[in-house]
Amino acid sequence: MGSVPSRGGKGGSSPRTSIADLGAESARHHRDFGAGSLIVCDRLVRIYVAAGIEVQALQGLDLLVDEGEIVALVGASGSGKSTLMNILAGLDAPTAGAVRVAGNDLAAMSARQRLAYRRRVVGFVWQQTNRNLLPYLTAQQNAELPMRLAGARPRARRERAVELLELLGLGECLHRRPDQMSGGEQQRAAIAVALTNDPKVLLADEPTGELDSVTAAEVFSALQKANVELGVTVLIVTHDPAVSSVVRRVVAIRDGRTSTETLRDTLAGDGEVVPHAVEYAVLDRAGRLQLPREMTEPLGMRGLVRLEAEPDHIGVWPGQRSARKRHRPENPGESR
Ligand SMILES: Nc1ncnc2c1ncn2[C@@H]1O[C@H](COP(=O)(O)OP(=O)(O)OP(=O)(O)O)[C@@H](O)[C@H]1O
Ligand SMILES: [Mg+2]
Repeated sequence: MGSVPSRGGKGGSSPRTSIADLGAESARHHRDFGAGSLIVCDRLVRIYVAAGIEVQALQGLDLLVDEGEIVALVGASGSGKSTLMNILAGLDAPTAGAVRVAGNDLAAMSARQRLAYRRRVVGFVWQQTNRNLLPYLTAQQNAELPMRLAGARPRARRERAVELLELLGLGECLHRRPDQMSGGEQQRAAIAVALTNDPKVLLADEPTGELDSVTAAEVFSALQKANVELGVTVLIVTHDPAVSSVVRRVVAIRDGRTSTETLRDTLAGDGEVVPHAVEYAVLDRAGRLQLPREMTEPLGMRGLVRLEAEPDHIGVWPGQRSARKRHRPENPGESR
């Protein structure tokens, strides 16, 4: 106990030395993971305890997002999307794991740093329109408010507010209060408000959840404008398939982990390009892979599966337990 493994003598067989080396290797791995990415979620865990019951909302989630990307996050209700957004927004802290946004270590920020982070580094748009805008201020006043809190001069903040609202097609709404604007206009105004302090990242949690499909498309294109014209990195949580018209990368979250990613080769443009989307499973750094239920269930795969290494792929076969379950017709109740 307490003895420091010798670094000098290369006693490769000493278990202490091996463990120390492994620790150093693992630490290096952690440090290097996501080097160069704007958003780095490294084995993120968030456990809620409510009324004595533990809910593992995030179960070791890994996610990297590069500067300038626009990414959609999808997943069933309760899969952990909002939990992740709240952590990235600096409103909540992870139970374990590391999370960095634009070089800010979100798990280790003081209250003061957290405030500065929320003012300057991230902007957010929530599903509920009334959570985004103050009802008694006009669109322009709402957009000026974060700049006022950040100490911007009156003229600069007026110009920036008008410029952003006009960019998002709200030139007519400058002097209207939220109750004088449509739901889609309110959400676009919310995007303008979120952009005023020039954030690195814009987080939108179901921004079109309360809108019809035509209005939703306008909000998605406003988020795309923020990405393309202002260079802001955008993360959108949504159930709306229409989001695929503005993003190239869709990350699916299942049970608190990233499970699949769909990458689109190209967006519909002027030329004769055929859009081509490929869904990939995510293999995490521990070698874990989530096999989709639609693939495993028809083959009766449960419990143990057998792997076979082929020259260019790995085959997965139902294991003994899976096969036993499949071949026991006298127990139909067990078939699930
Ligand atoms: N404050 C909390 N206290 C306890 N459990 C919570 C809390 N917030 C979320 N959870 C639980 O954590 C899990 C993930 O919730 P989360 O809100 O992240 O899901 P979501 O993917 O955003 O779902 P939805 O699509 O319905 O918005 C759920 O099981 C939820 O009940
Ligand atoms: Mg949610």
